[in-house]
Amino acid sequence: MDRPLRSELAVHWGLDPDTVFLNHGSFGATPLAIREEQRRWQDRMEHEPVAFLDGEGLEQMTAARQALASMLSCDADDLALVDNATSAVNTVLRSLTFEPGDELLVPDHAYQACRNALDFVAQRWGATVVTVAIPFPVAGPETVIDAVMEAVTERTVLAMIDTVTSPTGLRMPFEDLVARLEGASVQVLLDAAHGIGMVPLALDELGASYTTSNCHKWLCAPKGSAFLHVRKDRQHAIHPLTISHGANVPLDGTTRFRHEFDWTGTRDPSAHCALPATIDHVGGLVEGGWPAIMERNRSLVLKGRSILCEALGIEPPCPESMVASIATLILPLGDEEEVHPHLQDPLKNVLKSTYGIQVPVWTWASPRGRFIRISAQLYNSEEEYRYLAWALKQALT
Ligand SMILES: Cc1ncc(COP(=O)(O)O)c(C=O)c1O
Repeated sequence: MDRPLRSELAVHWGLDPDTVFLNHGSFGATPLAIREEQRRWQDRMEHEPVAFLDGEGLEQMTAARQALASMLSCDADDLALVDNATSAVNTVLRSLTFEPGDELLVPDHAYQACRNALDFVAQRWGATVVTVAIPFPVAGPETVIDAVMEAVTERTVLAMIDTVTSPTGLRMPFEDLVARLEGASVQVLLDAAHGIGMVPLALDELGASYTTSNCHKWLCAPKGSAFLHVRKDRQHAIHPLTISHGANVPLDGTTRFRHEFDWTGTRDPSAHCALPATIDHVGGLVEGGWPAIMERNRSLVLKGRSILCEALGIEPPCPESMVASIATLILPLGDEEEVHPHLQDPLKNVLKSTYGIQVPVWTWASPRGRFIRISAQLYNSEEEYRYLAWALKQALT
């Protein structure tokens, strides 16, 4: 079968023409115009570093928070710009104090790096991590809600919940979960790494104690751009991983939270500076803006999922309502004794080296299985999933 063409919007990205790129989910991909925008901010910085980092750069970071806030329906002052979701999760977990025996809840589909951070703090404080098993295949959102809420006890103090799970691609019923958990006095740390640009987020209405999202994934912003939102009543307890000048500068009408997060040492802020342009540029590629982009990506990934299921004779592992812009399918499990997320599945390498397809394939311990996860972004086309289906049929026989 011939290599498939991308969509007509692919001209806005500089992706390798020899790769069928079906893994937007891992690190995102940034349009050419936004890479230029980032370089323009770097040029301005290097033209006069002091004037930039003491002035224009800080002003642009404020503009970036305001642009995010209007997309997220929240107060820009409750947002901190951070490099990625992993550091935001660490920021929250390593700021909090726990009592021995406190219970920290996490579904077994959580991203391993964030789970590691949870295990680390639990061990430090003598707290207990309670892992909630979510079946996969899963019948529907109610199964997830029941499993999580049944695990809540009077010792539960925090729950780390995904918007969309990484290994299994499940769009979680996070709005319901946040409402129920916060209603039961359990602080929710919402891991929305797959969040902004993929699913609608209205943070004030949502009401989670802490939310982090990567902008470099589904917003298509430059790498190293993410945010942490902390509800006002929790801000006194949350400090950046790096304590810097903000710890003791006079408040001067603003909050300690703002001061501490607005300056964490000298760094290149160009990825964050490019956020307002990213929101406008990518949002302008499709009529209807961001809501239309989310819908278009979702329809395409569902189409891709059907194509694969039909070609391979397998069943989708979750209802369509639990799919956003990534979809995971269950492949036959090999005989491997050890199942570890860091192990490379040989099928992933075959798909790349023989067929030029970039798509993640991995085994996972709980829920146990061998998974393939497809992504859909504006540059993808239906043909690319047909090609993947053909390649998988060849590679699996
Ligand atoms: C659910 C989830 N959380 C956290 C992360 C970590 O993102 P980052 O590497 O940008 O910190 C990812 C990355 O794929 C993810 O899928």
